[in-house]
Amino acid sequence: MPSISFDTNNLIFSLQGYNVSSFIGIDTDGGLRHYYTGRKVETFTNPSYVMTHNPRVFAACPDENDPAFSESDVPMVYPGWGRGDLRYPALHIRHHDGNTISSLKYAAHRIESGKPELSGLPATYCEKSDECTTLTITLRDNVNKIEVDLLFTVFSNVSAIARSTLVRNTSEHSIEILNAQSMAIDFLDSDFELLSLRGAWAREFEMQSRQLQQGVTSVHSNSGNSGHFFNPFIALKRPDSNEFQGDVYGFSLVYSGNFLAHTEVSAYDQTRVMMGINPHNFRWQLSPGESFQTPEAVMVYSSDGMNGMSQNFHHLYRTRLARGKWKSTPRPSQANNWEATYFNFNEEKIINFAEHCKRHGVGRMTMDDGWFGCRNDDTSSLGDWVVDENKFPKGLKSLADSVRDKGVEFGIWVEPEMFNKDSNLYRSHPDWMLHTAGHPASHGRNQYILDLGREEVTEYLYNCLEQVFAATKTTFVKWDMNRHMTEVGSAVLNSDQQQEAAHRYILGLYKLLERLFKRFPEIVWENCASGGGRLDPGMLYYMPETWTSDNTDAADRLHIQYGASLVYPISSIVNQVSPAPNHQVGRSTPFAFRNAVALFGSMGYICDITSLSDEERQIAKHYLDIWGKYNSLIFNGQFWRLSPPTNTRFVSWAVIDDAGENGLLAIFKQRARAAAAYEYIKLCGLKNNSLYRVKMLSEPSVRYRMADGKKIPWPYADHDAIYSGAELMNLGFALPPEFVHDGDYKEFIYSVTLVN
Ligand code: DGJ
Repeated sequence: MPSISFDTNNLIFSLQGYNVSSFIGIDTDGGLRHYYTGRKVETFTNPSYVMTHNPRVFAACPDENDPAFSESDVPMVYPGWGRGDLRYPALHIRHHDGNTISSLKYAAHRIESGKPELSGLPATYCEKSDECTTLTITLRDNVNKIEVDLLFTVFSNVSAIARSTLVRNTSEHSIEILNAQSMAIDFLDSDFELLSLRGAWAREFEMQSRQLQQGVTSVHSNSGNSGHFFNPFIALKRPDSNEFQGDVYGFSLVYSGNFLAHTEVSAYDQTRVMMGINPHNFRWQLSPGESFQTPEAVMVYSSDGMNGMSQNFHHLYRTRLARGKWKSTPRPSQANNWEATYFNFNEEKIINFAEHCKRHGVGRMTMDDGWFGCRNDDTSSLGDWVVDENKFPKGLKSLADSVRDKGVEFGIWVEPEMFNKDSNLYRSHPDWMLHTAGHPASHGRNQYILDLGREEVTEYLYNCLEQVFAATKTTFVKWDMNRHMTEVGSAVLNSDQQQEAAHRYILGLYKLLERLFKRFPEIVWENCASGGGRLDPGMLYYMPETWTSDNTDAADRLHIQYGASLVYPISSIVNQVSPAPNHQVGRSTPFAFRNAVALFGSMGYICDITSLSDEERQIAKHYLDIWGKYNSLIFNGQFWRLSPPTNTRFVSWAVIDDAGENGLLAIFKQRARAAAAYEYIKLCGLKNNSLYRVKMLSEPSVRYRMADGKKIPWPYADHDAIYSGAELMNLGFALPPEFVHDGDYKEFIYSVTLVN
């Protein structure tokens, strides 16, 4: 059971979670200080060696009677602004008289088992109250009469601390919140590398690392969603840490809109980390008696490198953020018609797809964009969620029934947050656009954004979608969102509230999703924003899986899936086998390779499954059988990154069950190399003294090697051997020596099974 206690003599809060400790103190001025977070420390009694009150020359001293104290270089927990700490603040408020100072002092605290919900926002949760313990510290600005609740939750089986902040206006005047971060933490030194996930459309989840130096380094989004450019995640890692060892602190924001992940190394080499809603172009009016709830930020600590950090995120997010029946239960494999047909399909084609799904053992047929209004390209009909009777003369219900009659489930695509100008919805409600009056509205992919901050808009969407989902009895919805937000404003907000529109949009989206989630508990929800443009923990709360990227090239997917796994459990990652040459990059990779890469997540097909060759059918069957046998392991096992895509020869990862008894080892050859050195992959997560059978599963793709222009049998094709766990983890698993003779893009998938 995690515990939180308060030492009344030394005024220190001790937070003891699973494999993580944190100490927070109340300083002589009543301000909160962060003493330590990291590897387990059970007892901490003496804050004086963490902090000396010995202000620097030039530092501002807020108390006339205490010339020794300045906020300028003390490690803060939730810094306000204007009283001597010159670093960027976590809280910045404009008060009724125009002053923007916030001086936050301890007022009260509460320790409780369990974890309170965050009103209107997604957040991690506990299922039993003894799984987590929550500390709420209330700070008060006595001059401006503002209160702030800081929440800290520690968990019984994951090394994480969840943080959030509530700002209460207890004054008699309205205030404007200019910035309210979800969390802040000041580390006592700056010996860190900052790791983040950058990207762009079709190039998501590239890992980026840089040494921190004095000054600000941040990643953010301004696109209205969490975005393709950066994921709402950063990690601080010690320079000597790597995938397998060393201290790593990961930070992740449970939010789907504009975010900021900020680091600042001070003149005195302390490191401030803050995470929350991006304060740029944000301003929130708070009337007397009202409160503002920030999103949740989750910090995980790992002493076992980046794999340890990711496994903490995976475990927490899969089991205590994702919800509902499908959060960690393998979902049926699926075929999606997008890259096979784009907008050019009709009833006959979809039913034919369904028939082929059944034939190949695919569990669901999902109909993508183009089934509604008169949508034959991307210029029209978004907003009109009624079936196109030219394509489906018998209607949607009949289509869904026919798909089910073929023996597979029916899934459907929607993009509810948008409308085209060429739509009945726009013609009747042009003012429903999320838009600032005066400026022409920019379009993105010919579409405009609905103002989801308005009740009548989400009510309309709920009613349309409820009808479609109920009539078709769909068990799967792909929820898309395909543009950045610009000229953001709302026709129903007054001029002082226009900078609330972006956050109100996200709150409206969450409310709509919650209603639909509760109304259709059987549905598997797939999150998509032109691929991974809104893959974030906020969406994971409503939707257990995400279409990770529109880039379906298996070679690029190795990078994308590898990067996404830093934070997101592979149970939440959707991978689909696409045509060759690939439609995004023009590369051709072998069909077996594409299947093997797609295996590690929620597996499916986005190519034309009605025209597979005999050989491709056999390969698909082979991988669907592996998927059927191992999907529970893939969803619930520990994911280990073993060799990164920056190794041009091969990428490797493994999934090993919690007991360390069964697993899958994947080695993907990227580039063949003549006369290559012998190489070994060191496995993880096994038992040292047990024996394991390692058996090749990726038949039938690698059967031969080339010698003098001839194919000769490749003896490692049927690899099947016994090793001890210690051997596999320390000597490593040897890559077959002929590994290089079969060209680029080859897959080697092995089962790893305990034999004693
Ligand atoms: C973008 C998605 O990422 C694609 O998979 C597809 O659904 C298209 N939108 C449809 O417009």
